[in-house]
Amino acid sequence: MTDVPQPKPGILDIAHYVPGKAKAPGIENPIKMSANENPLGASPRATEAFAAAAQRLSIYPDGSAGALRSAIVKSYDLEPERLTFGCGSDEVFEDLCQVFLEAGDNIIQGQFGFAAYAIFARSCEADVRFAPMPDMHLTAEAVLSQVDERTRIVFLDNPCNPTGTIMPFSEVRRLHERLPGRVVLVLDGAYGEFVDASDYDQGFDLARGADNIVVTKTFSKLGLASARVGWGYAPAAIIGALERIRQPFNLTIGGMEAAIAQLADRDFIDRSVALVTQWRPWLAQQLGGLGLEVFPSQANFVLARFPNKPGRTAAEAEAWLAARGVLVRHVANYCLPDCLRISIGLEDHNRVVVERLREFLAA
Ligand SMILES: Cc1ncc(COP(=O)(O)O)c(C=O)c1O
Repeated sequence: MTDVPQPKPGILDIAHYVPGKAKAPGIENPIKMSANENPLGASPRATEAFAAAAQRLSIYPDGSAGALRSAIVKSYDLEPERLTFGCGSDEVFEDLCQVFLEAGDNIIQGQFGFAAYAIFARSCEADVRFAPMPDMHLTAEAVLSQVDERTRIVFLDNPCNPTGTIMPFSEVRRLHERLPGRVVLVLDGAYGEFVDASDYDQGFDLARGADNIVVTKTFSKLGLASARVGWGYAPAAIIGALERIRQPFNLTIGGMEAAIAQLADRDFIDRSVALVTQWRPWLAQQLGGLGLEVFPSQANFVLARFPNKPGRTAAEAEAWLAARGVLVRHVANYCLPDCLRISIGLEDHNRVVVERLREFLAA
């Protein structure tokens, strides 16, 4: 042992989280379709509320998120005592890992599921077991095949990032029925608002009657990514544990006020969702028309697979687009080196990305 501070075992093996690119070298205002943000921005009411909160910079926020809690309870018809809050839903995942994972335990997630779960699990010296996703779809069976006596949490991003695919609710129920009661099932509904498939449900009612289901939500995808507000709906016993380790002042006044204002701006939320559900099929169809394989998405992005031919690859397409001021996400770090994830943008953005890719594939 050397005489300098040593991180715990496994910490330095954790791969860095790779965010969507925000800059295109040499281009002032690129079109950003790389991070699944709301192309309409934030609700003007939320922006105003956030700005007004600047008057209260010197005081601590309400650590129990009382006003936001009431607003969510009203909007979603939930029991106030069953809510927990996080600096983004990321922090709720992190808190769950802290509460449930000991060294040598494991979590299960889809093979191409959201990258943050593994980071938090590994920081607890836990293992990550990946359930196979043939054709980018995750089944109950695939998850259950990974369960062993050390499994403590299943993270199900539904829709899944970066594939955009969903697990039908009948399948979620089946998964829950067959999962041992000691395993927490996290239903991560970060993109739930954008789903228009009929057999989908965010799972609040299922969670209400279960001892081991946590539903998580975020304000990030509908315009408040920078405000960092996420929350979870969990059984009382899980809330009791989470509240012991949650950072006492993890949400800011500005973030909470913005979230409350945005929840009340129904028109803005409806327009944001409508933009995605209108342009998602168009974008998928156009990309398909260019000869790319496009996976069925229910989120605010689509995933497209590029040929494995020099001059046509996903990595080259990403660079081509960036050089022309369009940022998309190459998802090599999700073990999908041949795919790009493209967030749904404004009409002009969607048309530009298709045109630039048409040129790329013809070049
Ligand atoms: C599936 C999924 N869940 C959760 C999150 C985390 O969102 P936030 O921490 O901004 O609430 C993301 C963000 O990209 C995501 O893709």
